[in-house]
Amino acid sequence: VFGLGVGAGCSKKSDEIPVGAYLSLSGADSTFGTDTREGIELALDERNAAGGIRGKKIRVIYEDDKSTTQEASQKVRQLIDRDKVVAVLGEVASSRSLAGGLVANNAHIPLITPSSTAVEVTQGRDWVFRVCFTDEQQGKVAARFVKNELKKNKVGIFYAAQDTYSSGLAKSFREEFTKLGGTIVVDKGYQKGETNFTTYLNELKAANPEVIFVPNYYNEMVQVARQAKQVGIPGSSFVGGDGWDSANLLEGAGAELEGAYFTNHYAPDVPWPNSKKFLAAFEEKYKHDPSSLSAQGYDAASLLFDAMGRAPDTSPEALRKAIADTKDFQGATGTLSIDKDRNANKPIVVVQIKDKKFRFATQVLAE
Ligand code: PHE
Repeated sequence: VFGLGVGAGCSKKSDEIPVGAYLSLSGADSTFGTDTREGIELALDERNAAGGIRGKKIRVIYEDDKSTTQEASQKVRQLIDRDKVVAVLGEVASSRSLAGGLVANNAHIPLITPSSTAVEVTQGRDWVFRVCFTDEQQGKVAARFVKNELKKNKVGIFYAAQDTYSSGLAKSFREEFTKLGGTIVVDKGYQKGETNFTTYLNELKAANPEVIFVPNYYNEMVQVARQAKQVGIPGSSFVGGDGWDSANLLEGAGAELEGAYFTNHYAPDVPWPNSKKFLAAFEEKYKHDPSSLSAQGYDAASLLFDAMGRAPDTSPEALRKAIADTKDFQGATGTLSIDKDRNANKPIVVVQIKDKKFRFATQVLAE
């Protein structure tokens, strides 16, 4: 009765169900990974406290891909071959979800990306799911917002040319904005990894657009925003996508981007009932506001655990089917259903940067 090591928290590893998570916990996009992990951990705490899966605890094994696609493939392979995970969570950046997703798809292990929006990520891959909208939807919403809400007709586009996410989102925006009768006065791709954007920004300024759409990641956007200010482009003329979501954007260029808008998955002040519950639990655990990445990480993990609970067993096929069958899941980022292409149908929010904070502006149901 007084045996050592018996009781909660001391269960043997073999009694636990292993789930893998591969994320950019270090490297260029490190806040994407660390924020997502916070969301997954919260979902894990909640599920294990509620009894796990049929009495078995879930264990999440994290791997750091250092923000590179090569490590992404290797880490997913390791999680599947060595750790025998029943499912994989990750990645954030579309380029790394494409890389890791290929490995999981070939191995027939379900993978759920919390926040990779590029169309290709789930295409033709029966084992790859996402709990976010796609860039096809996001780019349309951004274009309509600029044309119909901001009432701007002359825009510039500035994007990372070799990046799957950035170029895909630029393409979708470009097509929709043109279709709506708007004019694209300048359209420029930069090389991913560039740090001096002054020449481009001068070119952009000379074309005199009313809005500049910049669908890149926060780390590059900090530089773009700071240099734009020096060149004399007002920060409020920028519009972006979900890749801007990071506390580092606000710290690095929050002042420069005052008034700018971007499309996103979430903001702490979104009006959905389930988001409030999530916000309270998150703040309690971490003492700071969740980013969109944290909310998406939480949703990807809770949806997976929910599917594990509904599936008759944790075999790959049973899990795949249960994930595919998800309907009206009440997430922190709204109510979502998984469609036949393994994408999520859910609302898209438009966020505005105000006083160095992300503020909910409006929501649109993605079509
Ligand atoms: N949607 C981005 C991609 O696909 C990743 C991202 C999501 C970044 C949410 C920030 C916030 O690459």
